[in-house]
Amino acid sequence: MTPSLRTGKLLRAAAVRLDSPEAHAIPISPSDEARALIRCSEVVVRSLTGGYPVRVGHGARRLLPAAVAAASPSGRCALISDERVAGLWYDRVAEPLEREGVDVVPAFFQEGEANKTRATWARLTDVLMKAALGRDCCVVSLGGGVVGDVAGFVAATFMRGVPFIQVPTTTLAMIDASVGGKTGVDHPAGKNLVGAFHAPREVLADPAFLTTLDRDLRAEGYAEAVKHGAILDAEYADWLAACAGALLDGDGDTVERAVVRSVQIKAEVVSGDEFEAGHRQILNFGHTVGHALELDTGYALPHGHAVAVGMVAEARIGEALGITADGTAEAVRAMVAAFGLPDRHRSLGRAKRLAGLMARDKKTRSGIVNMVRLEALGRTAAGDKTTVPIPEAELISTLKRLFR
Ligand SMILES: NC(=O)c1ccc[n+]([C@@H]2O[C@H](COP(=O)([O-])OP(=O)(O)OC[C@H]3O[C@@H](n4cnc5c(N)ncnc54)[C@H](O)[C@@H]3O)[C@@H](O)[C@H]2O)c1
Repeated sequence: MTPSLRTGKLLRAAAVRLDSPEAHAIPISPSDEARALIRCSEVVVRSLTGGYPVRVGHGARRLLPAAVAAASPSGRCALISDERVAGLWYDRVAEPLEREGVDVVPAFFQEGEANKTRATWARLTDVLMKAALGRDCCVVSLGGGVVGDVAGFVAATFMRGVPFIQVPTTTLAMIDASVGGKTGVDHPAGKNLVGAFHAPREVLADPAFLTTLDRDLRAEGYAEAVKHGAILDAEYADWLAACAGALLDGDGDTVERAVVRSVQIKAEVVSGDEFEAGHRQILNFGHTVGHALELDTGYALPHGHAVAVGMVAEARIGEALGITADGTAEAVRAMVAAFGLPDRHRSLGRAKRLAGLMARDKKTRSGIVNMVRLEALGRTAAGDKTTVPIPEAELISTLKRLFR
């Protein structure tokens, strides 16, 4: 038995059953067969474009034909995936669409962060052009965070923007990346530096996809869940640590509860600050250092590992600067360790180089690195105090002191 988790705390974005009256706030019309098969929780993300549902549950992928029908007046969609995911899941996802008469245009690219590039964006866009898709099509992303980011950017830019549906297939993408409407690609100068905000019409998070994901990749995704607990919900953080074994083993109910809780937290934050003018920046906890580590290793360090190391490092920097309560870094380290994720990396020892890479972060202002102001486990500063500026010399000396 895993410990219970309260999912209603703190947040206004509520999880509701698909078959409850509240679920009809955003109408969908799945077939009777689909309705029978599905027992989804739903979290609604508020957005300037009207808001969208994130449906979480085993069988959620069976709602895709209805979602495409609602998003694509032409009944045509581009299904963007990477080669690996496509090999495992494309037929099972495309066939039900084609049975419903949807014209599916497949568009695949080689998996991996190294391919989250402008070149991949251009090639995928060419596939859509060649298939003569128009503004009345939609784009479906089938894959992890890399696929979601690239496919979302294709959708944001194709014909000046077409509707986009996210079908995340990794823990990381279900828990975090598929929600919030950030799309884009990397640039040699830094991560995610070319992109657009483009909210999805719908997110269908079906934990069944995780059955083909190996344990290491499953673990990686929980770095983002630890982040959600660390920044906003200490009780969730404790629950995650207690349930790490069940989550890594893929226990269905426990995984679903973690996805729902993380999506609630992310939904609440991004609903209040869709375009990251302020408070949303707290979701970058661990990413200022994490992105610098990814750059330093040429993306050999997986994103989840970089975020895990980054969270521990940023909590330690926060403690050293007196902005984070003592003991927080150790608590974050213990959570990360519970998932078998790394808590240190040799690149941390190269203070000057790392500080230079951190300065390429999108939160950098006038050359000064801004780091998320974590006050204690489960608590970040609000309003205009969300981040703390750290002058380069202070950053370098702190890094040297902590990680030499
Ligand atoms: N847009 C956002 O808000 C946001 C938030 C967090 C992270 N991200 C981005 O997400 C990316 C990391 O995402 P990721 O960890 O999902 O990486 P990923 O998409 O590269 O997936 C990791 C690997 O898992 C494979 N895979 C995916 N689903 C699978 C499945 N069901 N079975 C077997 N293999 C499968 C992929 O082919 C890939 O090799 C980074 O680029 C990061 O910047 C974006």
